[in-house]
Amino acid sequence: MEKDFEKLLILDFGSQYTQLIARKIRELNVYSEIVPYNISIEKIKRFNPRGIILSGGPKSVYSLDAYKPDPEIFNLGIPILGICYGLQLISQHFGGLVLPSEKREYGKTFLIIDDNRDLFKGFKLDDKIQVWMSHGDRVEHLPPGFEVIAHTKNSPFATVANKSRTVFGVQFHPEVSHTPQGKEILNNFLELCGFSRDWNMNSFVETEIKKIRDTVGNNKIICALSGGIDSSVVATLLGKAIGKNTKAVFINNGLLRKGEVEEILDTFKAGFNFDLIYVDARKRFLTKLKNVDDPEEKRKIIGNEFIKIFEEKAKELGDIKYLAQGTLYPDVIESTSFKGPSAKIKSHHNVGGLPEKMKLQLIEPLRELFKDEVREIGKILGIPKIILERHPFPGPGLAVRVLGDITEVKLSLLREADAIIIDEIKKGGLYNKIWQAFGVLLPLKSVGVMGDERTYEKVCVVRAVTSIDGMTADWYKIPHEILERISSRITSEVNGINRVVYDITSKPPGTIEWE
Ligand code: XMP
Repeated sequence: MEKDFEKLLILDFGSQYTQLIARKIRELNVYSEIVPYNISIEKIKRFNPRGIILSGGPKSVYSLDAYKPDPEIFNLGIPILGICYGLQLISQHFGGLVLPSEKREYGKTFLIIDDNRDLFKGFKLDDKIQVWMSHGDRVEHLPPGFEVIAHTKNSPFATVANKSRTVFGVQFHPEVSHTPQGKEILNNFLELCGFSRDWNMNSFVETEIKKIRDTVGNNKIICALSGGIDSSVVATLLGKAIGKNTKAVFINNGLLRKGEVEEILDTFKAGFNFDLIYVDARKRFLTKLKNVDDPEEKRKIIGNEFIKIFEEKAKELGDIKYLAQGTLYPDVIESTSFKGPSAKIKSHHNVGGLPEKMKLQLIEPLRELFKDEVREIGKILGIPKIILERHPFPGPGLAVRVLGDITEVKLSLLREADAIIIDEIKKGGLYNKIWQAFGVLLPLKSVGVMGDERTYEKVCVVRAVTSIDGMTADWYKIPHEILERISSRITSEVNGINRVVYDITSKPPGTIEWE
């Protein structure tokens, strides 16, 4: 029987950090769900949370179109923590005053602890801790019944509490890494809620398997399998839930790396509880991509073509209704422009590149998770190391690494160069220290000399980054000797590339992929 976990509810007011709150809560072994800020009180009661967190958001609580929760949430008698906008909502609701700040406060600052009980249990009194601020409004007058339990130089009411109601508000963001002790603060809030901490990633796996069974029943499902960790985890979850009714479709779009097709077919040939179907669609993709050089257009074409093939397969295999994908949260946030501050960065093919009208219904069990969490699930599911440790590879594949228009010749140059980069990184023992390393082929030529001959050939970029979740990244400092080997091997072994350069851009301001 499925266990009923104690739950935390997160009301989303449009902050770009809301998922990070959920993620920190998961790390603290509590089950949480994110819901829109205007969820009805009846639904909340049915959900029966042990605590509620109000997220940050882009609005001002005093504006006419401010996002407001059902005020009854404050009468439920359960602990509430408001973060940033959430703090301002709490202050306003209980009769305080919120006004625009003279100066927007953005960045790192120091919080001074005035009361080290409850939310700051375990902290030293008068201690200064680093916190991350991002707000344009501030609480001017405290509501009756509230007290200040921490302040900063610019925010006298940086943390407020109504202890008899167990309602707290923090002006800073405890969920981001720039607040290094934020997790301890969230942990204290969960303690105040009385959670028994019995939820973990194993529970996630059990719940998802049950959800898949309930949704799909005895029907078949198509699973988009790329051989990367995300889609491999989804296919394995489906396999565990509904066995061979899972039809994992691996499409060769002609944009894969050297040796990748053979490696994937070999990895999945046995030992998995799903059916593997291989589709060689190289011609289809490359024909559609001919002379296309705009990155967004490439992504859309590839996304559309993938879906077309899945729909054809769904028909062929007998009226399949569902398509499962390994979409992760960073794919969602970078592809969609939500209300609020999150801007569209790129159309990740498994989200933004989908056609408007799609016959198949999507199942995306990992949609709220980050990559490192998926790796943890992969371990629980017993997925082989070779897949777990694999660097991420984007759905549109080499199409976003051959800059500009794509040809077979350019693809083959990049495949060879990329294989050398990975080979040298592996030989140097760096592969598992790097989040992602790869080559990029630039759409230009440079002059060189080889023997006594002038050359006029292509340029290859070496890209390597470290990251926790792909949302931000630092360029990785590959030792010079290894760079030297990469450069000399590429220029001598790949006929058509005469120059190698090294990308030293972090994210932001760059993205990991070049397109
Ligand atoms: P960017 O380039 O946006 O990439 O900094 C962040 C991470 O996402 C991967 N990526 C994708 N993954 N479909 C995917 O499944 C895509 O369309 C896509 N675009 C980028 C990228 O390789 C990096 O790990």
